[in-house]
Amino acid sequence: MARFSCIFALCCLLTASASNIRIKSLSAARSFPANFGFGASTASYQIEGAWDVDGKGISIWDYLVRTDPNHIADNSNGDIAANSYYNYKRDIEMLKELGATHYRFSISWPRILPLGRSNYVNQRGIDHYNAFIDELIANDIVPFATMYHWDLPQTLSELGGWTNEEIVDWFGDYARILYQNFGDRVKHWLTINEPYIHCNFGYGYGRHAPLIQSPGEGYYECGRHILLANARAYRIYNEDFRNTQNGQVGIVLSSDWAYPASDSADDIQAAEDYLAFHLRLYMDPIFSAQGNYPQTVIDRVQAASTAQGLTASRLRPFTQEQIEYIRGTSDFLALNTYSSKIVYRNSSLTGTFVVPSHNDDAFLDTYMDDSWPASESPWLREHAPGFYNLLVYIKDTYNNPTVYITENGFSSTPGLHDDGRVNYYRNYLSALLDALAEGCDVRGYFAWSLMDNFEWAMGYTQRFGLYQVDMEDPQRTRTPRKSALVYKEIISSRVIDYDYNPDPYDTDGAFTVSASIIMTLGVAVINMVL
Ligand code: NOJ
Repeated sequence: MARFSCIFALCCLLTASASNIRIKSLSAARSFPANFGFGASTASYQIEGAWDVDGKGISIWDYLVRTDPNHIADNSNGDIAANSYYNYKRDIEMLKELGATHYRFSISWPRILPLGRSNYVNQRGIDHYNAFIDELIANDIVPFATMYHWDLPQTLSELGGWTNEEIVDWFGDYARILYQNFGDRVKHWLTINEPYIHCNFGYGYGRHAPLIQSPGEGYYECGRHILLANARAYRIYNEDFRNTQNGQVGIVLSSDWAYPASDSADDIQAAEDYLAFHLRLYMDPIFSAQGNYPQTVIDRVQAASTAQGLTASRLRPFTQEQIEYIRGTSDFLALNTYSSKIVYRNSSLTGTFVVPSHNDDAFLDTYMDDSWPASESPWLREHAPGFYNLLVYIKDTYNNPTVYITENGFSSTPGLHDDGRVNYYRNYLSALLDALAEGCDVRGYFAWSLMDNFEWAMGYTQRFGLYQVDMEDPQRTRTPRKSALVYKEIISSRVIDYDYNPDPYDTDGAFTVSASIIMTLGVAVINMVL
């Protein structure tokens, strides 16, 4: 008994001193609430692979990588990606290793509806997601399911995709199938991922599938139909599922924070315009009291369209009925945010070009501060104060909506020692604690990404994973990076310990802290019994 007491005392001492070190400079207020959700995000085309198995149809990305392979930086594709269609149990095991409580994944529209329309449902696709969702639930992980993360069925793209207003019906029908099949277990639905990026790259500047180049018209039409389609999916849920399923439905929007480049009135206005053209174009119609697009954007596009000799605005106005239909159609804001921009008025972009673009309509330009740590993605530098500013701006502008951070992360080269990502997560999560202290209603945080994946036109040249995926290995073996070990520690301790310095090559070491706690508890129990 004396021996046990001795071990107990020693273990208590070790555990206490370890936790004292961990929280030495942090007050109790600098910790995440016990019910704050932590998780990670992925998307179907970026991780699943299995592009043509079990009856799946062709998506616009399957089509792009076959018809224009050189469009992808390393000529790669998502045919296999991280092979998660087959490796999903390992993915869920990784979430457990992290101690994550939530997972955001997306459902592949052409896996469920190979031809896009709801008259032909692929049962094997339904079976796959049923097995996957069951496995999540069995592991106590809350599913956040994105309905659409950019892998449109090619058949629908042939009809104009997001520029065809019919897509509001197509998407509504698809959403209904998802509610019917998975809504008994999925209680958080994310309708459509990042309309700004999808419309800008897919229908504006032709960088993503379906490679349409129409930055002044296709871009706005795409956004308009995404707002209507989100509203349709939301209203279908309200009318036919909410009473029985008791879940929530919301849209995923993205924005960086914007600083004026100088204190000139022009630059201050330019920074406000940046937020109006990137964030408020999609937020105001859903989250503002009055609905509709921001008036500044309506006026600017109308003026530019008139100057270009067009008879109507390229930003097609909503009818009053549509404004009401869209307003309020998100139970929460799912926010993806990565970086900040410094914005200035560029008067040479007067908006009168014959080939119009939404960038010219905004007539502003952006850059980033060289002192902000750079990632592998040219658009992404670490600047956590901007994250705080964005969250407070959303709280103040939209009456403090419930927010989930559904993507946030940093790209690197391959390798397990990812200190850039470690710093990024610590600083962004610290900014998030500041935003919570300021009263922002943020309920959860999802790191992008759980694992390395197909970064769209950049292929596998930019890695975002907490877990490294060996893309040369047929098994697509996953290995935790240092950032995974740090994230795990934050999730379990609820505080950010800048001194914690795990070695990703010492996998036993990664579990030392929990092992010591388990040993301490075990010995304590033995002592009590004795
Ligand atoms: C946003 C997108 O939703 C995701 O698909 C992408 O990989 C990340 N940003 C990083 O670029």
